[in-house]
Amino acid sequence: MNNTVDRRHRFSLAVVFVAATTLCASVSGEERGDRDDDRGDRLNESQVKRGFEIVPAGVTLNLVGKNRALVGLGSYIVNTTGCNDCHTHTAYAPGGDPFQAQPEMINAAQYLAGGRTFPPSPFVSANITPNYAGRPAGFTLSEFLKVLRTGHDPKDPPGVLLQVMPWPVFGKKTDQDLTAIYEYLRAIPSLPNNPNPGPQP
Ligand code: HEC
Repeated sequence: MNNTVDRRHRFSLAVVFVAATTLCASVSGEERGDRDDDRGDRLNESQVKRGFEIVPAGVTLNLVGKNRALVGLGSYIVNTTGCNDCHTHTAYAPGGDPFQAQPEMINAAQYLAGGRTFPPSPFVSANITPNYAGRPAGFTLSEFLKVLRTGHDPKDPPGVLLQVMPWPVFGKKTDQDLTAIYEYLRAIPSLPNNPNPGPQP
C-alpha cells in the first residue's frame, strides 16, 4: 500500500519536473530573441556597420526606441538598393550628382519624401518617411510587409497594384530584411511631401 502511494508520488514529481524543464526552455528561448522572424538568421555585422557608414550626409537618425542593429542593416539595404533614385526628388543635391562626375551629395533635404514623376505615366513616388506617429509612409510593420510582398496598398481599392515600385523584386527579401528596412525608415527624419514633384532631371 505504502509502496503504491510512493510510486504515484514519484510519478507526479516526474510530471512536474518535465513540465518545469519545458517551461524554462521556452522562457530562455525568448530571452535569446529566438522569434520566428530572426531564428537562424543572425544579423550580418559587416552589413550593419556599412549601413551606418553610408547614411547620407545631412540625414540625422533618431535611434530612440529603435533596434540599432536593424536600423544599420536597413540603411545598408535602402542605401544600396536604389530607393533614393525613385523616392527622393531630385535624388542628388545641386552640384552633387555622380552622373555628372560631381562628388556625390544625396538630397538630404528631401530624402525619401517622394515626388518623383514618371512621365508619361500618372504615377508619383510616395513619401516613405515616418508620419507624425513615426510610421513609414503611414504603415504599421505588418501593412508595410504586406505592401512590399503584394504590391497592394490597403488605402487603395481592392485589386489596385503599385505600378512603378519594384515590389515583385523587393518582396522576395526575408522578413528580417524587410523589417530592417522598416526600422531604418522609422529612424530617418519625418518630412512633408515634396513640394516640387517632377521627373528625373
Ligand atoms: C523604380 C522606382 C522605385 C524604386 C527603385 C523604389 N520605389 Fe517605392 N514606389 C515607387 C513609386 C512610383 C511608388 C508609388 C506608386 C506606384 O508604384 O504605383 C512607390 C511606392 C512605395 C511604397 C508604398 C507607399 C504607399 O503609400 O502606397 C513603399 C512603402 C515604397 N515604395 C518603398 C520603397 C523602398 C523601401 C524602396 C527601396 C528598397 C523603394 N520603394 C524603391 C517607385 C520606386
